[in-house]
Amino acid sequence: MNTSSSTRTRILTGDRPTGRLHVGHYFGSLENRVRLQNEGAEVYVVIADYQVLTDRDVAADLPGHVEELMLDYLAVGIDPERSVIFTHSAVPALNQLLLPFLSLVSVAELQRNPTVKDEIRHSSQAAVSGLMFTYPVHQAADILFCKADLVPVGRDQLPHLEVTRTVARRFNDRYTRPGAPVFPEPEALLSAAPLLLGTDGGKMSKSRGNAVQLATDADETARLIRGAKTDMERHITYEPERRPEVSSLVLLAALCQECDPAVLAEEIGGGGAARLKQVVTESVNERFAPVRARRACDYPA
Ligand code: TRP
Repeated sequence: MNTSSSTRTRILTGDRPTGRLHVGHYFGSLENRVRLQNEGAEVYVVIADYQVLTDRDVAADLPGHVEELMLDYLAVGIDPERSVIFTHSAVPALNQLLLPFLSLVSVAELQRNPTVKDEIRHSSQAAVSGLMFTYPVHQAADILFCKADLVPVGRDQLPHLEVTRTVARRFNDRYTRPGAPVFPEPEALLSAAPLLLGTDGGKMSKSRGNAVQLATDADETARLIRGAKTDMERHITYEPERRPEVSSLVLLAALCQECDPAVLAEEIGGGGAARLKQVVTESVNERFAPVRARRACDYPA
């Protein structure tokens, strides 16, 4: 990769400060960020402390969550000497872009966003906030204000990347001279890993209690995996379409071990769900031991 300042790839990505990060975040995005940083890309990470208000009635302990997230980032290897970690609330100019950007999208487009629809379905709020529909445009501001080229994200964020590209294109068409676009149209960078499911077979989520956190301990990991949903078939196979829960567990272990999930499933085979869960627990605990050790140490204030 060319590392001269004008042509360095600029990465922007981030997370909502809702609690601790989990293994899905790690294999879906964090691992990519650290790799790109280490390869010399310019990495910006936003702690989305305004976006997080989307589906919350109270901003309970927001500063605490921001700090937890920051510690998780440091523990997985995002290096503040080389990368920029910031919050929405610390960069007023970013938020200011929301207004002109909102003028570039229709209400129908906002309502069609599949990730927003899914979040509304799972929301426990009595009423859906306006922010729920507009936060993808705010996310476009996250990405465009620093003119990022590349956005490492999980698959659920692809609709937001589409919004971002649309906003960039329409802004350039409407407000800039031909041939002199202000905003690049950023690309999503998906990890090679397919989406991991939560231990209940649903979407893995910090707020649904179905996720193995990066910074949890070995016993808690074992407890969570022991309770994971499997199915009635004894023999373990890797068939993501037909057996999503079992396959997601196999995949998690394979990602931790950096091996092929189909081969790992064959090895477990007749050992059944009990053996599968044992392998997953050991693999997760081994893979994340260094991260957990770093996370547990006290950083100087
Ligand atoms: N929407 C992302 C999530 O829920 C978090 C996020 C905020 C983000 N701003 C971003 C991701 C910009 C990528 C780019 O996890």
